[in-house]
Amino acid sequence: MNPNNFYITTPIYYPSGQPHMGHAYSSILADVFARFQRNSNSNVFFLTGTDEHGLKIQKAAEKSKLEPLIYCNNISKVFKDLTKKLNLSNDDFIRTTEKRHHLAVHDLWNRLIKSGDIYLSKYKGWYSVSDEAYYNNDEIVEKNGKKFSTFSGSLVEWVEEESFFFKLSSWERKLLSFYDENKKFILPLSRRNEVINFVKNGLKDLSISRTSFTWGIKVPENETHIIYVWLDALTNYLSAINFPNTKDKLYKNFWPASVHVIGKDILRFHAIYWPAFLLASGLKPPSRVFGHGWILSGDEKMSKSKGNILNPVEIVEKYGIDELRYYLMKEVAHGSDGSISLKSLENCINSDLANNYGNLCQRIFSFIRNNCDNKVSKNKNLSNADKNLINQTSKLCKNLINDMENQNLNTYIKSVIDISFLTNKYINDEEPWKLKDNDVDKMNNILHLSLEQIAKISIMLNPIIPLATSKVLNALNIKSNLNNLFLVESKSVISDNIKIKNLDILFKKIS
Ligand code: MSP
Repeated sequence: MNPNNFYITTPIYYPSGQPHMGHAYSSILADVFARFQRNSNSNVFFLTGTDEHGLKIQKAAEKSKLEPLIYCNNISKVFKDLTKKLNLSNDDFIRTTEKRHHLAVHDLWNRLIKSGDIYLSKYKGWYSVSDEAYYNNDEIVEKNGKKFSTFSGSLVEWVEEESFFFKLSSWERKLLSFYDENKKFILPLSRRNEVINFVKNGLKDLSISRTSFTWGIKVPENETHIIYVWLDALTNYLSAINFPNTKDKLYKNFWPASVHVIGKDILRFHAIYWPAFLLASGLKPPSRVFGHGWILSGDEKMSKSKGNILNPVEIVEKYGIDELRYYLMKEVAHGSDGSISLKSLENCINSDLANNYGNLCQRIFSFIRNNCDNKVSKNKNLSNADKNLINQTSKLCKNLINDMENQNLNTYIKSVIDISFLTNKYINDEEPWKLKDNDVDKMNNILHLSLEQIAKISIMLNPIIPLATSKVLNALNIKSNLNNLFLVESKSVISDNIKIKNLDILFKKIS
């Protein structure tokens, strides 16, 4: 894969219920990284979609009294519509019920048969339908006569059935060397340690087919078996880039994937099973799995089964999409869980967006409109205050690209918002409004530097709040090829003599 090609994925969502804020968070996070890469000269392929097979979906369809495919068509559409509401820039939306996916799953299965990694036996053990996961005896706890997974808290049931197995146990040492050779395969590092410890404790062979239900992709040449939904689902990352045609341009450009963005609950599937399946099939594992934390409501994971859902569509309608995107990206620290509430969303909109970045843009644009006929020219005599602001900004910019490349979004946002804060302070201290009758040159320099700062901040925030920043960049007449994150470290983004357009209010303060 060419280093300028960047393939990023979200988890494909179970269409087992309405989308919630956890889904929105996963998607927006991946979208921010995708946009960041596009604005840093990369050729990006960004994928999302729906994971439509398995017992969980079959049961959801039965509950709705619909054929599974009709049920999936309906809910998959809801998720597809969500991509528009969240302003995601995905290049494709894959459904695991599509033929292209079916072909890819069969090809992968056949590769595993060929490599001798699959055998037929009987599975006896615990299974959680809601996680679509197998659990060991030591991962089960009993409460009120029912058994639950200690890992996820989900209800489990005892399963005994004929099953094909993948020889996961034989991949233990090879996986550990793979993690060792690829230190950034799993980020953040705390997650990497978690996975390495789990593998070191020993891996059992994995059941990869089920015979007690029908909704899924059948095992080639043994149609009583349905392929385990996780082996099916993980393959979506390949089917979307036209695997098994390994000569296809998309596949050649984008495999191995650059990063799978996932929630920590599905780390085991992506960081253990997936690289093992791929290595066994003679394919390269992805370069990185980034396991983000959970969106909490109070102290609990937000989920349908817990009934504590904030509906992202309602929030977008009430507060706006940039507002939600910014809040989620800022509020949930790198890889950790984040508790969200309407109160803190409103505080965040007011403090960072309306009072800080929004106010900075508004006050400068309206001052220039009212006093300078929308035109500003820079002259050479920089004051100490100008130089100070330039130096402070360039210091804060230094680590930005590195922060983004390591998925360290909170530090990134904090630095950008600090630059906006410093710029507002500079304007308060320099008081350009007092200079319009006695030192127009100095006033022009202050306004020009402020516009320069606004341009840079807008470029930096563009992956996070694309709508508002595009309005500002457009009002500054900055062409899309200059919306490039590598430019923020350079001296100037705007020309010395600049004519701007009017700018409407970007963010309304919530009272
Ligand atoms: N279908 C699987 C993924 C297959 S990928 C080959 C799945 N789907 S899901 O709809 O249950 O979850 C999708 C993503 O949303 C996962 O990354 C999951 O971690 C994330 N979230 C679901 N609830 C969440 C929170 N409350 N908080 C943050 N993200 C969580 O898993």
